[in-house]
Amino acid sequence: MNILVLGSGGREHTFAYKIAQSELCSTLFVAPGNAGTASIAINVPISVTDFSAIKNLVLKEDIKMVVVGPEDPLVLGITDYFTKDDQLKNVVVIGPSKEGAKLEGSKEYAKEFLFRHNIPTAAYQSFTATTVEEGKQFLETLNAPYVLKADGLAAGKGVLILQDIEEAKNELENMLTNKKFGAASEKVVIEEFLDGIELSVFVLTDGKNYVTLPTAKDYKRIGEGDTGLNTGGMGAISPVPFADEVFMTKIEEQIIKPTVNGLIKENIDYKGFVFIGLIKVGDDPKVIEYNVRMGDPETEAVLPRVKTDLVALFKHVGDQSLDKIDLEIDQRSATTVMTVSGGYPEAYQKGKEITGIDSISESIVFHAGTKLEGDKVVTNGGRVIAITSFDEDFRKALKKSYENIEKLHFDKMYYRKDLGFDL
Ligand code: AMP
Ligand code: GLY
Repeated sequence: MNILVLGSGGREHTFAYKIAQSELCSTLFVAPGNAGTASIAINVPISVTDFSAIKNLVLKEDIKMVVVGPEDPLVLGITDYFTKDDQLKNVVVIGPSKEGAKLEGSKEYAKEFLFRHNIPTAAYQSFTATTVEEGKQFLETLNAPYVLKADGLAAGKGVLILQDIEEAKNELENMLTNKKFGAASEKVVIEEFLDGIELSVFVLTDGKNYVTLPTAKDYKRIGEGDTGLNTGGMGAISPVPFADEVFMTKIEEQIIKPTVNGLIKENIDYKGFVFIGLIKVGDDPKVIEYNVRMGDPETEAVLPRVKTDLVALFKHVGDQSLDKIDLEIDQRSATTVMTVSGGYPEAYQKGKEITGIDSISESIVFHAGTKLEGDKVVTNGGRVIAITSFDEDFRKALKKSYENIEKLHFDKMYYRKDLGFDL
């Protein structure tokens, strides 16, 4: 079977790495891909949101499965584009329908879904430009810190957590009246602040059945000790040591089952990943957010631990028979450390030559923002290369990743040296 992966990050290189190992895969395409995917698949220079170019590629290359990496094409309805097209409707698309993708595309929609299905989450109210004053009054009823969330997609920047009530009121006004995040902040969700430690669980569902993939913890801030600006993610650890059996049972019963059953009850066509961002408050899990795709860089730590053939797993998603497959998981820990361009997540330069990739052993190199320039690999984004390692516990695995990063070089390379500091 010919397969297409959409996207160009570390997550997509990891998908491609696992898919290329499967005997069920004949030719693998990645669009647009990066220098890492170029070494194991055919990169095709088309955008993940150019649906007609994707259609042409799928027909021309007889592609039977499309794995959607990022959220944008899902929120824009790529899955519906396939199911409604006579020539494409039999292609297996891993990713939910446009309706399902609203769980990530609209924070308000996600909150309403959570409340409809009695899934534990923070209390909230949402406001628009005409209800700014009510929003300010609502803030008065809460205690600091104040959590303001732009309703729509804002590239991970749409959440503000503020200590000061006046600042919170000003930012609310900025978001609603001055459209700080463009159309994404035409509506704002104000939430109760939850205090605890975060983790993520990943569920793959075929719309009837589901499997739970390994847990992971992501490090979002640029600076050590979780300080500074938010990034796409600076590294991840899987499994999360505090997610023991008792806690995982709570997550399964209180969150995963009601989520999948809620999708079924509401007739939402959903064949793909549900990435559930959770926070442990006391001994109980609460949902912070849903994403409708895998996480990046969580994928770089989670998927290498999945021993089950990924293409076989996706085929079961396609014909709604996930109950027929047993998930086999590597019991070792996996960690991934992201190297980034100096300056990221603010302005940074691209086109810096990367050396030392070939001298890395005992770790897996996943490319993110890289591209080929002649026979050189150069930087092409903020997050550049993730180094994944396995060992019996996460500290040993991290040590391996850090030792291997020493062999990698590009101008102004930066990475966090303190992953796992909070565990
Ligand atoms: P989100 O985009 O919804 O995942 O929010 C981004 C980050 O903001 C989360 O990973 C949390 O660290 C933090 N956050 C979001 N909502 C809350 C909340 N209700 N209480 C505390 N922290 C939150
Ligand atoms: N690492 C967080 C995300 O993928 O949204």
